[in-house]
Amino acid sequence: MKLIREHLVLRTLLSTAFVGLLVLLVGQLLDSRKRSMDVRSLVHTELTGDTLSLPLRKFEWQAQTPHPLDLRYPYPYPFLLNHPNKCEGPRGTPFLLMLVMTQPQDVGVRQAIRETWGNETLVPDVIIRRLFVLGLPPPLFTKELHTLLEEEDREHGDLLQVGFLDTYHNLTLKVLMGLEWMAQHCPAARYVLKVDGDVFLNPRFLVQQVLQPNGPTRPNFITGYIYRNTGPLRSPDYKWYMPPELYSQDKYPPYCGGPGYVLSGPLALRVLAVAQRIRVIYLEDVFVGLCIHRLGVKPTPPPPQSFLMFPKAYEYCTFHQLALVHQFQPQELLQIWPDFQTVNITCPVA
Ligand SMILES: *[C@@H]1O[C@H](CO)[C@@H](O)[C@H](O)[C@H]1NC(C)=O
Ligand SMILES: *[C@@H]1O[C@H](CO)[C@@H](O)[C@H](O)[C@H]1NC(C)=O
Ligand SMILES: *[C@@H]1O[C@H](CO)[C@@H](O)[C@H](O)[C@H]1NC(C)=O
Repeated sequence: MKLIREHLVLRTLLSTAFVGLLVLLVGQLLDSRKRSMDVRSLVHTELTGDTLSLPLRKFEWQAQTPHPLDLRYPYPYPFLLNHPNKCEGPRGTPFLLMLVMTQPQDVGVRQAIRETWGNETLVPDVIIRRLFVLGLPPPLFTKELHTLLEEEDREHGDLLQVGFLDTYHNLTLKVLMGLEWMAQHCPAARYVLKVDGDVFLNPRFLVQQVLQPNGPTRPNFITGYIYRNTGPLRSPDYKWYMPPELYSQDKYPPYCGGPGYVLSGPLALRVLAVAQRIRVIYLEDVFVGLCIHRLGVKPTPPPPQSFLMFPKAYEYCTFHQLALVHQFQPQELLQIWPDFQTVNITCPVA
């Protein structure tokens, strides 16, 4: 008798726990649905006739066991450090919003960038806003870094921390959450730059020669170093390995190289909108390429040799006539910057 009663109690307990779990799951599902709808209404683009796709995708994600490289998106990742008012200000809407990708521990990288190309007041007459996008450090370091990051953010007010693990394979989430921030808090920015922390950037060239503040608005504009006729690497040994389960076609559409590309504000919002419906892959630059392809947009070629994806030794005149060079360490940046800032040299006209 006693045994049976205990058995019953156990069963009741178990089923209560089960119902609780179910409620939690359904709650999460509804939550993310609500959130996705928010994003959709924010980016107010032509998504009509497609109201079912978001909740369905989410459901599929939970129903099947995801591939280890699969990314959970759309998903309501929270902004843990945030500056909703970053884009407001007496001078008005930014011409250029810089979303700089760094990892939580890259304190020195961010400082070097603030003191060099990330300086918001380098280009006269143009409003630039800079945000560093970062995720969460590995669990072991969460506590130590949290205090440091809060302090850094109090001093500089430029960290946008999003609630997912900051790994190379989660980079696409970082870019998408940067765009979500833009959609929510800076939707009228003329241009958005996605840039990695390990580059040299020449904001003056970027603004004046590539973006041209006085030129016409270009709603479908995206530029950077354009990769054409590439396709997925199928051997798991490659850094950029792409399993067929995640992307089955054997070509990528043209895309702008990840170290730095810039797109018009309106296009950024449409990329975000279409990203809600495409399977997200971890190669962030390829993924943005897939989004613009879906939108029927082609990358615009930049001035020749102005976005370099491979290292190049510093030289005053060359660097004044380009926008970006990949692979710069913070010490190198700080070292060349004073020379780069001098104006007393005449360079051959490009
Ligand atoms: C940014 O540049 C301005 C001049 O353009 C300079 O006065 C200021 O000190 C710079 N800020 C930093 C953090 O280097
Ligand atoms: C991405 O972030 C999520 C949420 O923090 C984490 O569970 C997952 O392991 C990360 N994925 C990769 C591939 O690093
Ligand atoms: C520019 O450099 C030359 C040679 O170093 C020097 O003679 C000249 O005074 C400099 N001009 C300015 C405006 O600094």
